[in-house]
Amino acid sequence: MSLFNVYPLNPIAITKAAGSRVWDDKGQEYLDMYGGHAVISIGHTQPHWVKRIEDQLHAIAFYSNSVVMPIQEELAAALNEISDKKDFQLFLCNSGAEANENALKLASFYTGRKKIVAFKKSFHGRTSLAVAATDNPSIVAPVNETDNIIFLPFNDIAALQACFSEQGSTIAAVIIEGIQGVAGIYEASDAFLQAIRKCCNDNGSVYIADSVQCGYGRSGKFFSHDHAGVHADIYSMAKGMGNGFPIGGILIAPHIQPKFGMLGTTFGGNPLACAAALAVIEVMQKDHLIKAAEEKGNYLIDALKNTDGVKAVRGRGLMIGFEMEAGLEDVRKVLLNDLKIFTGEAKPNAIRLLPSLAISMEDINLFLTGLNKAIQLLKQKKD
Ligand SMILES: Cc1ncc(COP(=O)(O)O)c(C=O)c1O
Repeated sequence: MSLFNVYPLNPIAITKAAGSRVWDDKGQEYLDMYGGHAVISIGHTQPHWVKRIEDQLHAIAFYSNSVVMPIQEELAAALNEISDKKDFQLFLCNSGAEANENALKLASFYTGRKKIVAFKKSFHGRTSLAVAATDNPSIVAPVNETDNIIFLPFNDIAALQACFSEQGSTIAAVIIEGIQGVAGIYEASDAFLQAIRKCCNDNGSVYIADSVQCGYGRSGKFFSHDHAGVHADIYSMAKGMGNGFPIGGILIAPHIQPKFGMLGTTFGGNPLACAAALAVIEVMQKDHLIKAAEEKGNYLIDALKNTDGVKAVRGRGLMIGFEMEAGLEDVRKVLLNDLKIFTGEAKPNAIRLLPSLAISMEDINLFLTGLNKAIQLLKQKKD
């Protein structure tokens, strides 16, 4: 049987990992500035994380959500503390798309409305409503098409206000990434997030902060929306939440009250996933990784801005995008093939850095040296 061929693959088989390093099946070491797509938050195979999952595996791996699970309550308490969303409620699921799907559905239940405001170039996942709210027609199947999504330009306060003054009473939710990831790292302005908060308040709509990629400390605050000083009504989370163990969830403001059957899942919140997520929070707190993301991110962003050949540096903390000047577009390939450094990409030409929040300064400097070398190699080829 062959694999269903949906990914353009690098011909590299990664078989081992530790911290910010990965190794292929031939023993070649790579520096991981990509974090498996923003998933590795505390470092590959981080020892406390491994131990907590191992211990949990020996106790119990799974039982259904029909019984009380103290480890879910432990995770809710830990999340309340680290996120500073004190009275919020937690619903657990397994992925980012599922988190957004549940967030959107919940907003519709809560308001009794159907319309969702989303933004140009957004990415919210591949399930039915999440993909419909994603601005990429090539991944929306005919069955996912719906008139219920209104796409507005990103960071355009006037367009947002005009939409709410015309249709505010029909809008269930606004969903927005605090920093657009797949689009190529574009930050929502503080003023824009504040305007969303106000429009939602004035019209009884739900503000959904898609924090799947930009959340969990990556931006230098637990949620990137926190930089704007606003509270959303629902935060969706996944990626960094489990450091590679599949888990997602939504944090729900206290005014949105649950009803039996409203949401549900078989695997969401299973004890193994909760153990992984607790280990992530424990390591983040013990090693002050959110502060580290801010400081190391500032250093990396400054260094990139001062690198010849690099332009358009964007992002916050350890969620960084940049572009290369003309003639240097192949830098990502040279970094991977010649210098053994993984980075991410965003079409058409942005390079994305999404390393572990625990990456060392030595590794950051190694990346910067590698980038300069890659630029020199490409310049020599051109001459
Ligand atoms: C902002 C955002 N939302 C949602 C998702 C979907 O997450 P998942 O792939 O876990 O379903 C992603 C994935 O890249 C994302 O970046």
